[in-house]
Amino acid sequence: MYTQSLDLPGQTPAALASVDTPDKRQAAFDARMAEDAKIEPMDWMPDAYRKTLVRQISQHAHSEIIGMQPEGNWISRAPSLKRKAILLAKVQDEGGHGLYLYSAAETLNASRDDLVDALHAGRAKYSSIFNYPTLTWADVGVIGWLVDGAAIMNQIPLCRCSYGPYARAMIRICKEESFHQRQGFDALLAMMRGTQAQRDMVQDAVNRWWFPVLMMFGPPDAASTNSAQTMAWGIKRISNDDLRQKFVDATVEQAKVLGVTLPDPGLVWNAERGHYDYSPLDWDEFWRVINGDGPCNRERLATRVKAHEDGAWVRDAALAHARKRARRDASAKAA
Ligand code: 3HC
Repeated sequence: MYTQSLDLPGQTPAALASVDTPDKRQAAFDARMAEDAKIEPMDWMPDAYRKTLVRQISQHAHSEIIGMQPEGNWISRAPSLKRKAILLAKVQDEGGHGLYLYSAAETLNASRDDLVDALHAGRAKYSSIFNYPTLTWADVGVIGWLVDGAAIMNQIPLCRCSYGPYARAMIRICKEESFHQRQGFDALLAMMRGTQAQRDMVQDAVNRWWFPVLMMFGPPDAASTNSAQTMAWGIKRISNDDLRQKFVDATVEQAKVLGVTLPDPGLVWNAERGHYDYSPLDWDEFWRVINGDGPCNRERLATRVKAHEDGAWVRDAALAHARKRARRDASAKAA
């Protein structure tokens, strides 16, 4: 059974908690970092380490939850029962990822209510990519192939993150994301083997999503405010630009198998670098989107807030049930 408190062999989770002076605690933490060991919830950690983990993990959780919307929009319009069942399972997985990640943030003493409030009030970030619309069924396939493909590329290194609960959550998430990526590719392949109209629909979706997907990896390294510190702490393992490049190199080959054209005339093999070059991205668009002014930001937040409000009775009922069970257990013990 998956658990956030799972210990891995060779680790001594409580060791830092037993070191008693601030200098010694910091030195013990630094030593942990130097030997690339895990930090666990009960360990002492610098406030800034805790804060940046809560920032990144909660943004990640919000992305998973908001990320249910663009595809959820297509569940009732999936072209067959098979595709509908796959899509339902996938959207449910994203909800589950959000829950593991909120749980991981809670191990850092963050309150889930506060994190959710910050999202609903527009104070918290979530991935830029989910502020773009899903106009056709091909968009659902492209989200699987490209968005989940980019997410895996970014998230595999997080399985080795220095904070134990986040790293362990990422192992399961990456396995599920891998299924998501393949189902997207499979849906697109079926369309590419279909009619000309279907092929055109796939190409149109790829044209619209390609550049926003490349921006998912975050700003260029030179403009990445958090990278230097999070890499020094072993939270992030590979830089934004390096992950983006790995994704481009892998995806060009997949596009050939699919038979689609990636919409960038600057995408050419550079033998000297051993990588594909690609055209500069529109970073003004990126900052506009993450600052709340993308094509769907307002709609995504309004839908999320409404879903939360509509679900209040479920949370109330679950709490009432838990209270009733606790009372019943207490009186059974007393008897
Ligand atoms: N969307 C929104 N905000 C972004 C962003 C993006 N694509 N990329 C960067 N930012 C924000 C950062 O959060 C940061 O803002 P902050 O300081 O206010 O928090 C600012 O832009 C500067 O960027 P940095 O490079 O300094 O930020 P990070 O070092 O945190 O790197 C990141 C950004 C690569 C997204 C990193 O946080 C990360 O790896 N996070 C975990 C993975 C994640 O959250 N993925 C989101 C997609 S999840 C998903 O796609 C679900 C799946 O089902 C498809």
